[in-house]
Amino acid sequence: MAEHLTVGRVAELAGVSVRTLHHYDEIGLLEPSTRTTAGHRAYSADDVERLREVLAYRRLGFGLREIADLVDDPTTDAVAHLCRLRGLLMDQRDRAAAMVTAIDRELEARAMGIRTPPEEQLRVFGTQLYDAIGSAYPATRRTEPRIAARIWEALGDARTVLNVGAGTGSYEPPDRDVTAVEPSAVMRAQRLPDAAPCVAAAAESLPFEDQSFDAAMAVSTVHHWPDPVAGLREMRRVARRVVVFTYDADDTGWRQRFWLTRDYLPEFADLLVGWPSLADLAGAIGARAEPVLVPWDCVDGFFEAYWRRPEAYLDEQVRRAVSVWTRVGPQAEQRAVSRLREDLSSGRWAERNRDLVALDTAELGLRLLVA
Ligand SMILES: C[S@@+](CC[C@H](N)C(=O)[O-])C[C@H]1O[C@@H](n2cnc3c(N)ncnc32)[C@H](O)[C@@H]1O
Repeated sequence: MAEHLTVGRVAELAGVSVRTLHHYDEIGLLEPSTRTTAGHRAYSADDVERLREVLAYRRLGFGLREIADLVDDPTTDAVAHLCRLRGLLMDQRDRAAAMVTAIDRELEARAMGIRTPPEEQLRVFGTQLYDAIGSAYPATRRTEPRIAARIWEALGDARTVLNVGAGTGSYEPPDRDVTAVEPSAVMRAQRLPDAAPCVAAAAESLPFEDQSFDAAMAVSTVHHWPDPVAGLREMRRVARRVVVFTYDADDTGWRQRFWLTRDYLPEFADLLVGWPSLADLAGAIGARAEPVLVPWDCVDGFFEAYWRRPEAYLDEQVRRAVSVWTRVGPQAEQRAVSRLREDLSSGRWAERNRDLVALDTAELGLRLLVA
């Protein structure tokens, strides 16, 4: 019994009440492995390890039922739990740090009698999101040559090209004179030394003269802008031609066709609330919209990229490079991933999606706007 701790001692060490530990026992979340001779609960080192996981997931905002799924997952050992917890806590810490910086900035401005404009107030959720999650980006996000060919063709004979929301530099055409614009310092810092020069600015207020570029492009970024229509108008102002790779938020058809949003992550729909329609985006620049199909082996790991490779979504590295997973929050993410893992191992995913194996490309709402 020497290596076991009493319920009172565990409660004291963990800063929870004895009642909480009794409740965890009653619902089967943490059943102490033994009892003292007097019949009191006694916790082994393994029980304490499980309690630490339970409490850490609790602090991250998970519900008890989800925590039970997580800690009972046979494919996740203690080290994997620690790594996952570490990643989630670092994310939370980075996001909190970004919010504190934004709040400090606004407090300073208010002390000087300046009211922060609405776009600036929202920027913390856009730009600073990438300051928080951007370091995970290059692991799986890179130029997909078949999509790049479409974008570069749409640029026509443009010699000078502005890449707005440029990130780490994917899709920048190697044979033209490119200037990049990227508001996140973390993303700018990850550009290769020989990448195009990059200006720290946001789409909604481009620091360039009217018509100073032959073309402006924006790839997988418009949905992060606090004011997409204003940003697109700015692109139109500074360039003669505009090429935007984005998606049709209004087309619920593709969300129903895409098993990930349909069967596992319905919360994705909440991210699109209030988002301008494709018609509004196209209208802002007078663009035509062309569908872009996603190849089954797409090398740019954006959200829809792994539609025929479902196992990829179980990989934390894949998810961390896609903002959707951070935006829906850790609870929805873990629930979606647990269910997908179950369905992959039971064969349910394969049964439901057997038609996909025969497809080489999928129409998942991605669009090229060309103006
Ligand atoms: C998904 S990444 C895409 C990066 C790059 N275009 C690519 O295809 O890899 C989205 C980028 O949009 C940037 N972004 C966020 N808000 C922005 C804004 N208001 N104006 C311009 N870029 C913005 C983010 O910092 C991030 O680098």
